[in-house]
Amino acid sequence: MCGIVGYAGNKSVVDILLDGLEQLEYRGYDSSGIAVKCKDGIKVYKAEGKLGNLRNVLSNCLDEFKTSTCGIGHIRWATHGAPTVLNAHPHTCTCGNLVIVHNGIIENYKELREKLTASGCTFRSQTDTEAVAHLVARKYFEVKDLTEAVRLASKELEGAYALCVMHNDYNNTIVATKRNAPLLIGYGENEFFAASDVPAIIKHTNKAVYLNDNEIATLNPAGIKFIDGEGNVITPRVETLPWEPVALSKMGYKHFMLKEIHEQSDVIRNILIGKLHAPDENIVLNEVKLDKNTLKNLNRIQIVACGTSLHAAMVGKYLIENFCDIAVDVEASSEYIYRKTVTDTHTLVIGVSQSGETADTLTAVKQSKARGSHILIITNRPDSAMAREADSLVPVNAGIEVSVAATKSYTAQLMAFYLLALYMAEIKESMSKTDLQALKAEMMQLPQKVDQILAQTDEIKKCAHAFANTKNFIYVARGINYPTALEGALKLKEISYINATGYPAGELKHGPIAMLDETMPVLSILMLGTVYEKILSNSEEAKARNAQMIALTNSDDKKLDDLFDYIIRVPAVQELFSPIIAMVPLQLLAYYIAEFLGKDVDQPRNLAKSVTVE
Ligand code: G6P
Repeated sequence: MCGIVGYAGNKSVVDILLDGLEQLEYRGYDSSGIAVKCKDGIKVYKAEGKLGNLRNVLSNCLDEFKTSTCGIGHIRWATHGAPTVLNAHPHTCTCGNLVIVHNGIIENYKELREKLTASGCTFRSQTDTEAVAHLVARKYFEVKDLTEAVRLASKELEGAYALCVMHNDYNNTIVATKRNAPLLIGYGENEFFAASDVPAIIKHTNKAVYLNDNEIATLNPAGIKFIDGEGNVITPRVETLPWEPVALSKMGYKHFMLKEIHEQSDVIRNILIGKLHAPDENIVLNEVKLDKNTLKNLNRIQIVACGTSLHAAMVGKYLIENFCDIAVDVEASSEYIYRKTVTDTHTLVIGVSQSGETADTLTAVKQSKARGSHILIITNRPDSAMAREADSLVPVNAGIEVSVAATKSYTAQLMAFYLLALYMAEIKESMSKTDLQALKAEMMQLPQKVDQILAQTDEIKKCAHAFANTKNFIYVARGINYPTALEGALKLKEISYINATGYPAGELKHGPIAMLDETMPVLSILMLGTVYEKILSNSEEAKARNAQMIALTNSDDKKLDDLFDYIIRVPAVQELFSPIIAMVPLQLLAYYIAEFLGKDVDQPRNLAKSVTVE
């Protein structure tokens, strides 16, 4: 993963780099570093851990680069080599004249390292990136032109990369290139930016070029030059970014995660605006290009996604099969891309991704597109690489999500699936008008129900504090809420590091029940509907093994008081919409446990929000 930023212009560079990196911290926070061109040559500063540590390092030497107007920066999520200062970017060639920052993975770095070491290069880190620094330096020695050196070196690289390179022989110049990793070039007045993502530059400009694979940009305040991978000069399209600079604020909440959980009723309202006006009106999805004929010709749907988006996809399968009578498979993108998949022109492939840039999902989508499938993307970033592959798009409009643990984007993805499944059912006429109307009416009630949960968090907090010191946690559910159990467990794992697992309740007796005793909390998601009684029986089985029992329920059944030690009650809701109502308390439960334990809720260890490596 990682995030990179570069600036060549006429303003003092350090603050521009640090601000840019701060906006990219969602991509990793294992270490950070910058390289700036000073009067007496390029200087490199690095620090382990969060960006604040780099700021501290720099505060002692600010005078050194007051006049510097060119530099590159990096924020790291460690792939090769531990998150130490030595492995932090920027990396340099043996003599230190060339510096480089990199996002991605160089798959043939071992071979390159051996070859370059044999030819006299001295490696100082364990990273794959350092091989690129030495390789470009070698090419530069041969051709004495930095752009050409980057172009020639790129030809020998396998894997994914976005790179920014500087050399001591050049004043105010950065060379940038990419393959299978995002990089955009921002245009200011006599200044240019390079960055992994829009938030790093949007404060300065809304004009940018999205670099295509193998293209190379040479940035200098005097002008910019683009070439393709063969060295031909090209003129790429400068786009206006559909973004406003936003000041990210916690709005009085202790963490972004808590703020984002509390934004969810508005997120639901926002996604419904313009798409569902009234229960007796049709769903409007302007960017979905699936007509009756296309839907009739489909013999299956495949949904690919990772992490939280994968759990939303599992709910999506349930909805589409239920409403539209089309078979749906859901698969983790990382599994999908390395096997023979039976995908063709009769398959609709849906990619789900908050960021729209997760490498595995992007690859899965590209593979299916090449086989002729219609590609539908559900994303929070309609400007992303994945959205650019889409034949149909459902934007989820959750707004910027800062907390690494996804909350409001999950709810928004679920809403996108409700809208899509109902939309397809309308076109396919696979449901009666009365049923469709009833579902749409229920969907319009969701924001108020979420507000009700958010107004009463005391019971959840009490439960969180009671279980904060547990080592393990089991979540069980069935049917449409099985993904809720997985997502609830994932939230707890991510931010509290408690070993939490979600199971289909019926599977407890086939193994997991062996783990139950009085130290094990079991949380049953007991939503009224088809499988309510079944989960109740499964909960009895767990209680009989002395597990500590927690219910999350919308039932007022008195029986529950004897069976459960804690009961979290949520508003009544039609079963098909219960994943939205059930998830909010589970997000809060995870949040209050992690907060009680004093964990770094918004930036949990080892994680990153956007994963651009396979
Ligand atoms: C990372 C994030 C998760 C996210 C997953 C998929 O692992 O930490 O929160 O669910 O990537 O990301 P996407 O942007 O594709 O939804």
